[in-house]
Amino acid sequence: MKVITTINEMQNEILKHKGSGQSIGFVPTMGFLHEGHLTLISKARKENDIVVLSIFVNPLQFGPKEDFSTYPRDFDRDRALAEAEKADYLFYPSVEEMYPEEPSVKVIVQERTEVLCGKSRPGHFDGVATVITKLFHIVMPTRAYFGKKDAQQVAVIDGLISDLNFPVQLIPVDIVREADGLAKSSRNVNLLPEERLQAPAIYLSLEKAKKAIENGEQNPHILTSMIKELITSETNGEIDYVEMLSYPQLKSVEKIEGTIIIAIAVKFSKVRLIDNMIIAID
Ligand code: PAJ
Repeated sequence: MKVITTINEMQNEILKHKGSGQSIGFVPTMGFLHEGHLTLISKARKENDIVVLSIFVNPLQFGPKEDFSTYPRDFDRDRALAEAEKADYLFYPSVEEMYPEEPSVKVIVQERTEVLCGKSRPGHFDGVATVITKLFHIVMPTRAYFGKKDAQQVAVIDGLISDLNFPVQLIPVDIVREADGLAKSSRNVNLLPEERLQAPAIYLSLEKAKKAIENGEQNPHILTSMIKELITSETNGEIDYVEMLSYPQLKSVEKIEGTIIIAIAVKFSKVRLIDNMIIAID
């Protein structure tokens, strides 16, 4: 595996592979890799000739009061994990390499951002769309792998690819969970021990709502209250949102039908966790 830190070198390597007709699988990350990320890499490995992993903690997508400086980082461990998954390239640019000066152009996301994390994180998805646009121009992937853990991000990238005509196939990948149901996240290390024990209640509440839907419950308000009650009684976390929306359009629904997403965000003392379930009702 080759570690590359400059945009120029990355593009030159990719152009060589493209010239010989090889497909490029791309997994963008912010590092501190866990099994969720590794699943994306191994899927990319199976489906492409060349696999590129990027690690870049993108300042543009963090709000002024968010955890950019405390976001967990461990490059040596990440490099070993990426190597074990047989990635061909690890693209690891510095902030100065990606943003040598205040950008004169940014990508603004118009739709699918007024809800869920977009509502409480203004500018976050503009930052994601901007860095992904840059990374797509640098890595020129055939396929790009994104986890459904960040379902709104998948919806935004879907819009980015089609609206800006990127010749990239978006591959959404299922959520990878801990044995007790907690969705794997680089941020889980910032949970206090007792919060770590409480956090699986988020997934349990999603499962409970799914069962209720399977048993015929169609009222999103009843389901939302049920979820809020469970999380409030089982955790010390503060609920940021519990929403039920159409997917991938992310419009509010008055009745559970078609494909919907139930999405939850809960703030613990040092970390905000998100989770979701996408349910297709026939
Ligand atoms: P990061 O949080 O590092 O996540 C990188 C990718 O891993 C994302 O596509 C995310 O959805 C996926 N992922 C994280 N946890 C997962 C889990 N438990 N199961 C399945 N997939 C999981 O998302 C970002 O970075 C950034 O916003 C990025 C896209 C890199 C742009 O900066």
